[in-house]
Formats: sequence, structure tokens, C-alpha cells
Amino acid sequence: MKKKITVIGAGNVGATTALFLAEKRLGDVVVTDIVEGMPQGKGLDMLESGPIHGYCGRIKGTNDYKDIEGSSVVVITAGLPRKPGMSRSDLLAVNKKIVGGVAEQIKTHAPDATVIVVSNPLDIMCWVALQATGFASNRVFGMAGVLDSSRMRAFIADELDVHPADVVTMVLGGHGDSMVPVVSMTSVSGIPLTDLMPKEKIDAIVDRTRKGGGEIVNLLKTGSAFYSPAASAVEMVESILLDSKRVLPCSVYLEGQYGIKGCYIGVPVKIGAGGVEKVYEVKLTGEELKALQASAQAVHADMEELKKIS
Ligand code: LAC
Repeated sequence: MKKKITVIGAGNVGATTALFLAEKRLGDVVVTDIVEGMPQGKGLDMLESGPIHGYCGRIKGTNDYKDIEGSSVVVITAGLPRKPGMSRSDLLAVNKKIVGGVAEQIKTHAPDATVIVVSNPLDIMCWVALQATGFASNRVFGMAGVLDSSRMRAFIADELDVHPADVVTMVLGGHGDSMVPVVSMTSVSGIPLTDLMPKEKIDAIVDRTRKGGGEIVNLLKTGSAFYSPAASAVEMVESILLDSKRVLPCSVYLEGQYGIKGCYIGVPVKIGAGGVEKVYEVKLTGEELKALQASAQAVHADMEELKKIS
């Protein structure tokens, strides 16, 4: 029997996620939104592209949370995106309400689902979803590291004129200005990046990666990136549904690993049918570990801000 996957939010990220899920034939897709008619229209439009693309899964757009019943995975994309000049943290208050409300609906209607959070500020919204669902933390985690790493991989591949799939890296930390692109874990098919590129070039790519989301926001002017965030979320969904045990950087709840406790932050994890099946505590350079811990402090500061918002 086909699995059911729900995408909450039928905006750019949500609709693109739904489309990629259908194209990968991962199951039946439900896409929800509060705007009347919009998810239905987009869902129907995607369904009608099935005969050409060759996928047979059902795609349904809806305003009714009852339709998410039986979902194996729910991807939360609901919430406002950034506009130029905004940081992801500026979305704290408004998206807390939206994501908190959505998570309560998931708890009621899809209590067995694994939840992937995409809404910003990402690491904080994971925490909001964890609290509102009351699910175990291995079933509530966030998409950010896959996206940030994909950006860095694309920049490196472009610079070296190599296949992007051969570029391996890990961008850890919070999904914000304090993210930590880990150069010591970056290679092209095992060849260390430091053997292939001068330090100045690497530094420039690290900097561009950190500002990667903002670069797109400034170009689009009306919203944030969606193709690469959607592709990243789908990579995580696939690893859960196919139990493929991918090792990916994801925002997960830490309880002492890397000296970080009580917050969500991006670290390497194994993703399978059990959600987050393992957190890898890899050896980082002193500088990288310090940067990761500083990033966790920035997330903690946002959590304190959040407590002030009712
Ligand atoms: C970005 C948004 C989705 O990084 O956070 O593009």
C-alpha cells in the first residue's frame, strides 16, 4: 500500500515539495493550506501532470486537516517567508503561532507521523513543533543542513567544474548567520577540498554559503528560496519512507552531544524509518566546535525571545 505524505502549506516551498514528492513516486501526497481553493487548485494541476510525468500517486489539495489522517510523514512549510532586510529570527512571533497551531492539528489527526519542519526560524520552529505535538524528538526534526550543504556543494562544483554529486560537505549549526560550514568534512570524492582550492576561495565559498538564503531573498524581493529547500525536504522524506539510512545534517534536539543541551541545532544524523536513528558526534577542529557551540547559543537566545511572546 502506498504511504501518505502530507505537506502543510501550499506556498512556493510547500507546492514544490508536493510536486517533487509526486515525481519521485514516494506515495500519495496531501497538500494543505488555509487559503480556500488554492491547495485544491495546485493539487489538481499537479495530478493532471501525472499522465505526462508517469506518476500514479494521488495528489490532493485541501483545507481540511481530517485529510491528513494516516500520514506517515508530515512536512511543515506553513509560515511567512523572509523579505529583503529581514533575518530569519524576525519571523519568530508570527511563525510561532502558525507552526504551533499546525503542530496541534498533526497531534490530533496524524499522531503516528514523523514531522519534518521547514518553516523559519528553523531551529526554533522545530522546538515549537516538538512541544505542541508532544512527540518523541526522534520524530520531530528540521530541514536546514541539507539545504545549506547543497548550496555549498553547488558553489564548489561550479568553481571546480566537477559533478555536484561528487562534492560532499556538512553545514552544521543553526539555520542562520551563525551556521557552520565544516571545511574539514568537505571533499570531492574523498579528495580534501583544501587540496583543490586556495584558502581565500574556500573562505569566499563559506561566506557565500552562510548568506545563501539571503542572496536568493534579495534577488526575488518577494519571498525566499523554494526549489532547493523543497528538494532538501524531499531527500529527508525519502530516507524515512525507504528506510535508506542516509547520513545527513539535520536540525535535531540535542541533549548534551557536542556540549549542547536543550535546543535544536544542525548536526550529522542517520535518517531512517525510525526518524532520527543516530546522532553522530564527529571530531571537529577546535574552531569548528567553538563555532557550533556559539551557534547553539544564538538558538538559545531566540528560545528566550520566544518565551516572551505569548
Ligand atoms: C533559505 C530559507 C528557506 O535558506 O531559510 O532559503
